[in-house]
Amino acid sequence: MNVGIDLISFYTPQYFLGLNVLAQERGVDPDKFTIGIGQEKMAIPPPDEDIVTMAASAAHPILEKVGRENIELLLFATESGIDQSKAAAMFLHGLLKLPARCRAVELKQACYGATAGLHLAAAAVAARPGIKALIVGSDIARYDLRSPGEPTQGAGAVAMLVTVNPRVLALDPETGLYAEDVMDFWRPNYRDEALVDGKYSMRIYLAALEECWKQYAALTGRKFHDIARYCYHLPFTRMAEKAHIRLAKFAALKELTGEELETEIGDSLRYNRITGNTYSASLYEGLTSLLDHAAEDLSGQRIGLFSYGSGCMGEYFSGVAQPDYRQHLFTTAHRAMLDGRTALTYRQYEDIFQLGFPTDGGDHAFAQYRTGPYRLAGVSQHKRLYERIA
Ligand code: CAA
Repeated sequence: MNVGIDLISFYTPQYFLGLNVLAQERGVDPDKFTIGIGQEKMAIPPPDEDIVTMAASAAHPILEKVGRENIELLLFATESGIDQSKAAAMFLHGLLKLPARCRAVELKQACYGATAGLHLAAAAVAARPGIKALIVGSDIARYDLRSPGEPTQGAGAVAMLVTVNPRVLALDPETGLYAEDVMDFWRPNYRDEALVDGKYSMRIYLAALEECWKQYAALTGRKFHDIARYCYHLPFTRMAEKAHIRLAKFAALKELTGEELETEIGDSLRYNRITGNTYSASLYEGLTSLLDHAAEDLSGQRIGLFSYGSGCMGEYFSGVAQPDYRQHLFTTAHRAMLDGRTALTYRQYEDIFQLGFPTDGGDHAFAQYRTGPYRLAGVSQHKRLYERIA
């Protein structure tokens, strides 16, 4: 019995800052951002959008297509939590009008959370094949202004429906895992911006990749060339290029040509390059990007996935693209959403960044910006108020 991703949908805010604009403002050569870290634009959520509205907007097309019946598990992965007690999954459950018979929780392990969700969901669905699970990764990547992390900010969400006999990607059961208690990137409860030891985080990412691949290869007997396309956690696209070059050397003693690098990972980078880091969603944004862009039909081909969450947790796993998977993608909607975005000026970006969230317990209605079908209408007596607008 196959278990895996039946449908996958991606959402990113309607506003972005061009990294050429940021480079000019910071007095940096724009090539450092576009070539050195490999990013062009970073998505900026307006004040009436948060992880819950992004998650709802990502999940909306899936529910429009298949309805809500038998969704008995809702897992919300995020490292941009909005409440210390109530799970973002409960807000999402309400907004999406999911069945009352549903197990809904929030998961956290930096950018790895959605991968934990995916595998927990696959196990739950395999045990009870009649049920479906909805997994969402939704995050806002936020670093201090003028810090090295600033150009790697971004925002977005990915929703995945996990079922038996999936139409998009059947998961292989074997995975390579690596856990180690390290301080490469973290965000204490009293801070809105992440702290990071940037170069160290890159080294740990690559070390975790090697450990995870070693286990995955031993468990499956698969070699580097048994995988047709590779997806990586994407803090920025250059990181995936470094990772793939490293893996080819480590796993196959191979120096990749530029053409091989482009064939094997190029399509998976296209969305991230224009949204920035989406933390828990980013690996699955990469998978969506690959499936939406691949000129070749990948049906029956194996896709390798490396998930990394600082702190740190790594996992190497794979799946096989299903026959006719292209008929079940939301490619047209993704393209329309990305093509319709509005560029911000530097001043608008900094104004939104500095806005802050009302904490006085009063009643605050939020101005309406362009969002997906759900928005954060305001806050009243410390309670977030959401609304559906389309
Ligand atoms: N033209 C072309 N390239 C240029 C250039 C120019 N004018 N100027 C610099 N570059 C290159 C540099 O040579 C460098 O490339 P290499 O890494 O190949 O040497 C690259 O641009 C970046 O330059 P710096 O190393 O000087 O950059 P920095 O010190 O300002 O910061 C960073 C880079 C550490 C990634 C920083 O953006 C950061 O801290 N980001 C957040 C942390 C992060 O994303 N870590 C990734 C692993 S952890 C993870 O994956 C979890 C997560 O999501 C956060």
